[in-house]
Amino acid sequence: MVERKFSEPTDEIVQLEPVEVRRYIAFTRWNHWFTAICFIVLMLSGFAFFHPSLYGLTALFGGGQMTRWLHPFVGIALTVSFLGMFVQLVHLNIIRREDLVWTRNIKDVITGHEERLPELGKYNFGQKTVFWGMFWLILALLITGVMMWYQYFPHLVSIETRRIAILVHAVSAVLIVLVFILHIFAALWTRGTLRAMTRGTVTGGWSWRHHRKWLRELARRQRTKPAE
Ligand code: HEM
Repeated sequence: MVERKFSEPTDEIVQLEPVEVRRYIAFTRWNHWFTAICFIVLMLSGFAFFHPSLYGLTALFGGGQMTRWLHPFVGIALTVSFLGMFVQLVHLNIIRREDLVWTRNIKDVITGHEERLPELGKYNFGQKTVFWGMFWLILALLITGVMMWYQYFPHLVSIETRRIAILVHAVSAVLIVLVFILHIFAALWTRGTLRAMTRGTVTGGWSWRHHRKWLRELARRQRTKPAE
């Protein structure tokens, strides 16, 4: 019996390994996770000061006094660490015209029809919003936090101004926690994203689907690279 064929002789699997695309080098990933740890410590210790019912959280940090001492220093560490990420990523987080088209058609993203939208670079508008949201809120938390840091800056501002600073600090903290929840939700909801920050790479399919302009640029760059 003659065996039926389903392919041309010229068809071939040229590469067994799936295409992988580097998205973050190790330095950026360490920078990110250090920032995330600082954030979680700040969030838990901050919650402890937020309402008496949450005071029990201070037990995680060795009691009330220790938590009060630690919180502002971790705030400084987070600011410095976030600044490191900011410097590396800001040029790719500038809002562009295609971001507005993307936002207007957000329902196509949610229903899995990203192919109807303009091709995107490394970040979409949602990611850029998280980036800028975190930037402005960290700045507000830093400034108001220093105003409240009575131990080291007791006469920096008047009592009235300090009261306003406390209010702005608390409101900014609530907002940044919301941004944080949005960030985690987006990272988990868009399947295949988390590995960008763990392994440093994403698949070719993920890049093609979500950040095609970015992938095209990498492919172009590699094609024009002189052969080794
Ligand atoms: C612990 C929870 C966190 C998880 C699971 C997480 C996860 C991720 C993942 C997967 C990415 C890569 C997204 C991509 O390249 O498409 C990312 C990027 C990023 N993350 Fe996080 N993250 C966390 C906490 C934080 C915190 C607390 C901050 C800042 C305070 C932060 C700031 C950023 C920034 C700035 C980027 C780069 C994206 C951009 O520039 O728009 N992350 N994160």
